[in-house]
Amino acid sequence: MARGGGNETANNGKRNLSDEDLTRAVLASFEGAKSKRFGEVISSLVRHLHAFVEEVQLTEDEWFKGIDFLTRTGHITDDNRQEFILLSDVLGISMLVVGINHRKAVGATESGEAVEVVGDGHREPTGATEATVFGPFFVEGSPRYENGDDLANGAPGEPCHMEGRVLSTKGKPIPDARIEVWQADEDGFYDVQYEDLGVARGRGHLFSDEEGRFRFWSVRPEAYPIPDDGPVGELLEATNRGPMRPAHVHFMVEAPGYEKLTTHVFEDGDEHLDSDAVFGVKDSLVTPFVRHDPGTAPDGTDVDGPFYTMSYDIVLALSTERARDGSRDGAAQTGEAGE
Ligand SMILES: [Fe+2]
Repeated sequence: MARGGGNETANNGKRNLSDEDLTRAVLASFEGAKSKRFGEVISSLVRHLHAFVEEVQLTEDEWFKGIDFLTRTGHITDDNRQEFILLSDVLGISMLVVGINHRKAVGATESGEAVEVVGDGHREPTGATEATVFGPFFVEGSPRYENGDDLANGAPGEPCHMEGRVLSTKGKPIPDARIEVWQADEDGFYDVQYEDLGVARGRGHLFSDEEGRFRFWSVRPEAYPIPDDGPVGELLEATNRGPMRPAHVHFMVEAPGYEKLTTHVFEDGDEHLDSDAVFGVKDSLVTPFVRHDPGTAPDGTDVDGPFYTMSYDIVLALSTERARDGSRDGAAQTGEAGE
């Protein structure tokens, strides 16, 4: 038989496909996926993408523009700039992922209160701190600080003393929780946005003490526009959307036996709280940053200019495993039987 001639099985039914059969054929091609979960995810992605192309009757020119957009999103991304996370953020995908995954152990009632799914499937309020977007400005390997240190490390801005406790949902202090902090300075820039800065500023990690307490100095954060000089900025411009995010400090807190929490603390009164470019604001994460005249700070430091204080307790939910099994093991770890 001539190469490629006549054999109906040679193309595995992938020839002369109608649009509908094309979708079916692509989905069938994933049936041998090595991971069942990957097969499920890629199949769903293709189903929705095909439906999207069909729904908008995508033109070839639009398809090329889309490819070009994603290509440039990749090209502008480097160790210090994460345009793909930014894109995910402005499309609301990041907050959707946060919401879905937070609901596994901790969810929200209709009023927004965090809940935990208990053994029989009903949901009880936990009081755990709500999560929000990770954002594009996290950097691995931040410097370690001790309680009371100044994380600003020269970042421009008005001094701000930040403190709080890390607690379980029963109000029990969680010692040795790792607290990662990163924030913008008074000009609305993160350290990694300065070319050739070479040092961490307004960024670091520390651990809660025996009473679950943490405290550090930094600068008051400022509201800022997300980077809008790249593809994501074009998207915002094309849709008449603003790039501003309300002033906030990023926290990522983890301790054994508890769900890792990625969140922000927002400054109360910020004019952008209702128009966050990445949809990340929750009322429970908004707190006052209180201005003080020169004088003695809460830690006894004499400050010769105006300064701010911010206090916020961070409540961690039990890890999914502990929440599910009634935490016999967790009780051994933390002495919180039956939490
Ligand atoms: Fe941020």
